[in-house]
Amino acid sequence: MKVAIASDHGGTNIREEIKQLMDELKIEYIDMGCECGSGSVDYPDYAFPVANMVANGEVDRGILICGTGIGMSISANKVKGIRCALAHDTFSAKATREHNDTNVLAMGERVIGPGLAREIAHIWLTTEFTAGRHAVRIGKIADYEEKHL
Ligand code: RB5
Repeated sequence: MKVAIASDHGGTNIREEIKQLMDELKIEYIDMGCECGSGSVDYPDYAFPVANMVANGEVDRGILICGTGIGMSISANKVKGIRCALAHDTFSAKATREHNDTNVLAMGERVIGPGLAREIAHIWLTTEFTAGRHAVRIGKIADYEEKHL
């Protein structure tokens, strides 16, 4: 699996924590910024490149961190083919892989600490999609995208 990861200035500590986790799990990743010391940056400038890399198959998954995770998740979900989950608990992290086959995870560094973020990312990165009835529902989202976006 290959992952693209990015954060704005509000998510750099968790980004470093998740990169360390992926090193330990031997998961290949591309760090898409932001650069340390770049000051205040705009989260869409980081969410769209990562979401596009996932959508066009350059990477398998994306992880986005900002202050709340909300701006990143709103932005990523604008990209066709992206199913981004904002998850701040381990139950949601597991369920959103099993049920929603989410391909992008968003988290907020002003909401949770690095320890919980690591657990959430670990579960999200290692949980498989259950498919079955859930695949039908994902298909309905894809159909909507084809017809309306
Ligand atoms: C930046 O101050 C903050 O707005 C951003 O990190 C994020 O929380 C937006 O959703």
